[in-house]
Amino acid sequence: MTAHRALSNHDLKEDIREYWSLRSKTFDQAFGHHIPEGEEFAAWRQEILDHLGTRPRKILELACGTGEVSRLLLSLGHEVTGLDFSEAMLAVAKEKHKNNGNIRFIFADAENPMEPDDSYDAIVCRHLVWTLTNPQQAFNEWYRVLKADGQLLFFDGDWATPTWQGKWALKLIRLLDAMQGADPFYDGALSEQHADIMERLPFGSGLKAEMVIPMLENAGFKDIKISSHKPIAQAQRRQANLRNRLRTRVYSRFILSCRK
Ligand SMILES: C[S@@+](CC[C@H](N)C(=O)[O-])C[C@H]1O[C@@H](n2cnc3c(N)ncnc32)[C@H](O)[C@@H]1O
Repeated sequence: MTAHRALSNHDLKEDIREYWSLRSKTFDQAFGHHIPEGEEFAAWRQEILDHLGTRPRKILELACGTGEVSRLLLSLGHEVTGLDFSEAMLAVAKEKHKNNGNIRFIFADAENPMEPDDSYDAIVCRHLVWTLTNPQQAFNEWYRVLKADGQLLFFDGDWATPTWQGKWALKLIRLLDAMQGADPFYDGALSEQHADIMERLPFGSGLKAEMVIPMLENAGFKDIKISSHKPIAQAQRRQANLRNRLRTRVYSRFILSCRK
C-alpha cells in the first residue's frame, strides 16, 4: 500500500476524481489529450462521422473532461450533453465552450448518469471505460438512457501493457527524457497516484475489447463492432515531434461501437 492510500480515507472513485482534477489545468497541453486542428482533428472527426453518420443527433458525452471530444461532436452539428464528475475538468470545458449554445454540462457519475430512460440517440466517450469501477453497472445504465436503436461509441485502450513495439518506444522515450528533460505535462509527478489507482481498477491490468463484449451483451447491446485506431495514430504521427510519435506506438487502442 502506498503512503497516499495509507493516509487517505477516500474511496477509489474519489481518488480517480482527485487525480483528474489535479491534471485539469495541464490536461490540454499533454499529447494525446488535446486534439490539434489539422490532420489529427480531421481523423477523429472522420471516425465519428463513419460511426454516427451525418445526421445531427442528441449525444451524451460521458467523462467529457476538458471538452476536447465535445469540440469534434459540436463541429458535426450534434447537440451535446457533456458529463463529468470532476468539477475542475468541467470548469475548463465550460470555459472552452462558453459561446456555444449546442452544449450543456452536467456534474454526475458516468456509472450512474441519472438521466431519463430512452433519452439519447448516442453515447460517446473517450478514455473512460478503462477507469470504470463497476463496468457492468455502467453499461446497464448506458443502455437504459439510450433510445431504441441508440448507439454507444467509445475510444479506449490497454494502458497497462505496452505492445512489443511499445517496449522499444518506451526505452527511446526515456532516453529522450534523459537528454532533453522530461515532458512536464505527461503525468510526471502524479504517476505514483496513477499506479495506485490502476492497482484497484477492474481493468487495471489492461483493458481489451474481448473483456467488455460479454458485459455489453449482458446489458442488452447488439451489433458490437471493434475498429482500428490506426488512422488516428497515423494522423497524430504526421503532426507530432519524435517523442510523441513514439508515444503513439506504446499502447494498443481500439474503437468500439454497438447498438441498443
Ligand atoms: C482521460 S480523461 C478523458 C477526458 C475526455 N474524455 C477526453 O478524452 O479528452 C478521464 C476523464 O474521465 C472522468 N471520469 C472518470 N471516471 C468518471 C466517472 N465515473 N464519472 C464521470 N467522469 C469520470 C475524469 O474526471 C476525467 O475528466
